[in-house]
Amino acid sequence: MKLVVANFKMNLTLQYITEEYIKKLNHEKFKNQKVVICPSYPFIPIMSLLLNKQYYIGSQDVSMYTEGNYTGDVSANQLNSINTNYCIVGHSERRLNYSESPKQIVDKINNLQKYDIIPIICVGENNTRDKIDVLKLQLNEILPFIKTDKELVIAYEPIYSIGTGIVSSIEDIKETIKYIKKLINERGINKSSVIYGGSVNEENCCQILNDNIVDGILVGNNSINADKFIKLLRKVEVLDEK
Ligand code: PGA
Repeated sequence: MKLVVANFKMNLTLQYITEEYIKKLNHEKFKNQKVVICPSYPFIPIMSLLLNKQYYIGSQDVSMYTEGNYTGDVSANQLNSINTNYCIVGHSERRLNYSESPKQIVDKINNLQKYDIIPIICVGENNTRDKIDVLKLQLNEILPFIKTDKELVIAYEPIYSIGTGIVSSIEDIKETIKYIKKLINERGINKSSVIYGGSVNEENCCQILNDNIVDGILVGNNSINADKFIKLLRKVEVLDEK
C-alpha cells in the first residue's frame, strides 16, 4: 500500500479547508493507498474531526521540548491529544530557515515516539555531486539516536526539487531510494517506508510509484488545491490495482 503525504506548508485558511477541501476529499474513496494530510497546526483538530476515517492526520513539525514555557511551540503530547498520527521532521525548509540541527531533529523524533506518532524524517542533498555523502551523514546523525523498532518513514527530498518543478530522472530517484533502503536495512530497520518528495504532480506520480521501489510520495504544492490533489490520488489508486 502506497503512502501519500500532503504537506500544506503555510498555506490555506479555515474557509477553504472546511468549505471545499474537506468536502471534496470526503466524496472520494481510496482503498489502495494511505493518505496523510499535514495542515498547519490550527487546522489539525478540524481536519481530524471532519475528514472521513480513511484519511490520516499529520503535523508539519513538533517542539523539541516536552512541555513548559516555550512560547509558540506545540508538544508531541499536545499533538497526540488532537489525534495526530504522523509528523514531518527535519524538512529542509526548517533545516535551512530555522537552522534546525540534527540534535534538535533527534529530540523531536524521541518526543514523537513516546506518543506513537510516526515521524516522517526528511533527508536530501542540495547538490547531486555530494548526494551519497550527504544522505549517509544525515541518516547517521539521526538513526543511532532514535527507536528503530518503531514505525518510521524516511522522505527523500532533494532540495533543488522542492517547489521548483525540477525533478531529476525517475531512474535516479529510484536508485537513491534503493540506496537509502540499503543503508537502513544495514541498521536492521525493517518497519519503515522510504518515500520521495519534490515537485511530485499528477503527471509524474505514477512513474515514481510504478514498482515496489518507492513506497510513497510527499506532495507539497500539488496537495493544496483539492481538485489537483484528488486527480493525483485517483491516479495512485488505479496504479496499485494493477
Ligand atoms: P513540493 O514540496 O511538492 O512543492 O515540491 C514538497 C515538500 O517540500 O514537501
